[in-house]
Amino acid sequence: MTEHDLVEVCQIEDLSGLSAWGWDAYHHELQSRGDSIMLVARIDSTFYEYGLAGFIVARLIADELHVNNVAVRHEFRGRGIGSALLQTSLADGRKRKAKVAQLEVRAGNVAAQHLYRRCGFEVVGRRRGYYRAPVEDALLMSLSLVHDVHGS
Ligand SMILES: CC(C)(COP(=O)(O)OP(=O)(O)OC[C@H]1O[C@@H](n2cnc3c(N)ncnc32)[C@H](O)[C@@H]1OP(=O)(O)O)[C@@H](O)C(=O)NCCC(=O)NCCS
Repeated sequence: MTEHDLVEVCQIEDLSGLSAWGWDAYHHELQSRGDSIMLVARIDSTFYEYGLAGFIVARLIADELHVNNVAVRHEFRGRGIGSALLQTSLADGRKRKAKVAQLEVRAGNVAAQHLYRRCGFEVVGRRRGYYRAPVEDALLMSLSLVHDVHGS
């Protein structure tokens, strides 16, 4: 993701009904490149009136990778783009020595939970009334990024 992508990232965020970060927050996150993993899935803009199919934003905090936002345009869903964005972020997190990946997801967001489970995440907790507009519980999901538990 670059600064030039941000208008479209905000548009996808808006269309996907995510809690709004907005341009400034993504821009701020881009400045802290070292700790952030910000990826876009590009499409051929010869055939479409836009250039991005989706994006993901994650952040490394110590040895934890926090997956904050992932979204794919409606017309590109169900083609493995969400999985590709998430798997690439997890691989990057592993390279940067993250031991665990964590995220929160709305309890009613079946599609996102399916994506996360498919990538190996498991539900490890629940935060009651965590989300606003509408109020909804959050499921906490976690994935160990350490393969060789007996290794040095
Ligand atoms: C969640 C989201 C990113 C998934 O993107 P995607 O590109 O459609 O995901 P994929 O095509 O990689 O699908 C991943 C898995 O989820 C499943 N899935 C996708 N949409 C689904 C749905 N509506 N219901 C149930 N399962 C669904 C797929 O079947 C696939 O599993 P499978 O391989 O076992 O069949 C997309 O639905 C989206 O942008 N949602 C709105 C934003 C959002 O809620 N983001 C998450 C919270 S930050």
